[in-house]
Amino acid sequence: MSQDRLKIEVAKAALRYVEDGMLLGVGTGSTVNALIDQLASAGIRPEAAVSSSEATTERLKAIGIEVTELNHTGDLELYIDGADEVDAHKRLIKGGGGALTREKIIAAASRKFICIVDESKCRPVLSEFPLPVEVLPMARAYVARQMIKLGGQPELREDFVTDNGNLILDVRNLDLVDPVRVETDINQIPGVVTCGLFARRAADQVLVATESGIETR
Ligand code: A5P
Repeated sequence: MSQDRLKIEVAKAALRYVEDGMLLGVGTGSTVNALIDQLASAGIRPEAAVSSSEATTERLKAIGIEVTELNHTGDLELYIDGADEVDAHKRLIKGGGGALTREKIIAAASRKFICIVDESKCRPVLSEFPLPVEVLPMARAYVARQMIKLGGQPELREDFVTDNGNLILDVRNLDLVDPVRVETDINQIPGVVTCGLFARRAADQVLVATESGIETR
């Protein structure tokens, strides 16, 4: 099965958690795009959605789902998003699409976070995907030096500005055996908005599309 087909299958599997009239948090990326397509096909109508990116907002509005601000909703019943890497404890690396900060805020403000991925994203330990770190533009070089001190190899994401007007450093080679500690350490560096580790607030449930069907973790 192609990776695109697996994304569609896991998006379909996520539909059973979405109810008409609920307040839904919606992530960013190609797997979430498949979810938005499936919501439209199934005719499921959340009361409104809180979106993690301008790209997702556009897609939600295109299928007629109202997009509202998190400041107007209180906590959300459910947040659904993809990930770039998932470990055995449902901890994630996110931010391949650059939406990590809004994604992390919505995950924190949601009672349940369901992550939808295909099996290529799963590893016993977070290790391969370069860690995205959103930084204020004036802190780019300073934060890059701190990443090197932590043993990482930072690279500025070329020609990319986040929806918040910031930059992304993609950092390779960090030791992520203890992702909670690394997330805490990186997020305390002045100039860092947030890093793409979702370890302190991991997913509650991960739906994984495999060749032999959907696994729920
Ligand atoms: C967006 O910033 C990311 O966190 C996405 O959730 C992640 O990159 C997964 O995207 P795909 O579904 O396109 O792989």
